[in-house]
Amino acid sequence: MIKLSVNINKIATLRNARGGNNPNLLKMAEDIQRFGADGITIHPRPDERHIRYKDAIDLGKSVYKEFNIEGNPIDKFIDLVMLIKPTQVTLVPDDINAITSNSGWNTKKHWNYLKSVIDEFKKAQIRTSIFVDPNLEMVEYAKKTGTDRIELYTEEFAKKYEMGELSSIEAYSACSSLANELEIGVNAGHDLSLQNIEFFAKKMPYLEEVSIGHALISESIYLGIDNVINLYIDKLNR
Ligand code: PXP
Repeated sequence: MIKLSVNINKIATLRNARGGNNPNLLKMAEDIQRFGADGITIHPRPDERHIRYKDAIDLGKSVYKEFNIEGNPIDKFIDLVMLIKPTQVTLVPDDINAITSNSGWNTKKHWNYLKSVIDEFKKAQIRTSIFVDPNLEMVEYAKKTGTDRIELYTEEFAKKYEMGELSSIEAYSACSSLANELEIGVNAGHDLSLQNIEFFAKKMPYLEEVSIGHALISESIYLGIDNVINLYIDKLNR
């Protein structure tokens, strides 16, 4: 079974638009798990424009399935993750001003730095994942960091899939096979949707988990979140 972790950043964005507590992020996280999702993902940014650091702490106490925290491992982020001790931390090289993650790590250039951060999280028994482009060399160097998993950055796949370029999956499946040979687990995320998820899951060997936010929340406006979560679960495991 491929696990579905729902990224709830957009729910925080909606709440923050009015300054109150509607929608209630903690209640939604609880409901998302009850509707069948395998976990909750958040990506707190230093400017707290969607998920606030306090949300992360509150969710850390209440999420009862897998809890995945993504972000650039600046000191403030490392301290937050060490305090919460989630199931998994996903390291992302996002720029402070980026609207959303827009590249994977250059693991060849930064493996030493990543290794030191990963060592710290692993000592605290937090599973680690690093966000990478679908590039075999990046997967090889990911091994040197000691990470438990990689998360393959799927924006390129999603764009090409929409244009009918189905062969774009090959770079991803090759990275997944290499990661498996190197005994690294494989996650994936970014721009996955009800349109592309079934094809992606079918073609990706060894895929353990996807994290999905923007499309899933947008689709829920039309279809309802309980229904959408179960459509993903069905398509991931056909
Ligand atoms: N993975 C990473 C590292 C991300 O930064 C994001 C977006 O926050 C996602 C997955 C989920 O992407 P999307 O919101 O497009 O589903």
